[in-house]
Amino acid sequence: MNPVQDLIKSLADKHGKNRENLLPILQGVVEQEKYLSEYSMIEIARELDLPAAEVFGTATFYSFLEHKKMGKYIIRVCKTITCSMKGKNQILHAIEDMLKVSIGETTPDGKFSLMQTNCLGWCHKAPAMLINNDIYTELTPEKVREILGEYMKRES
Ligand code: FES
Repeated sequence: MNPVQDLIKSLADKHGKNRENLLPILQGVVEQEKYLSEYSMIEIARELDLPAAEVFGTATFYSFLEHKKMGKYIIRVCKTITCSMKGKNQILHAIEDMLKVSIGETTPDGKFSLMQTNCLGWCHKAPAMLINNDIYTELTPEKVREILGEYMKRES
């Protein structure tokens, strides 16, 4: 087995091989590899016994198909309707202001990338964002500044 196959197998063992564990497995691969290759997706499909199209579809939906190197922390702000209505633009502006990056960019020190994503399943606590695998909900610009401040402190 090559390292990618090893990684996928250990993630599948850890999370379980059911359809609902596809997302944590995709996230695990992206975390390790920093992006999701076509090869990885095919291997995941094989490991979970899913149609490759389903794995591709999920990966595209969550915009995890990045082929450029991302920051250590990937911030994904939900852009879907509930979060949009509940102020995701203010959330984005607060982050852009603080990190001095726009959507799709990474800070020059390689620490933070700012992305948008589709619904994270936390609409009842919108607006929501992910930082790597951690979910943050009921965001306000103040709350976002606090959260990012904590990450920055950890890194300095
Ligand atoms: S719309 Fe944002 S979490 Fe569902």
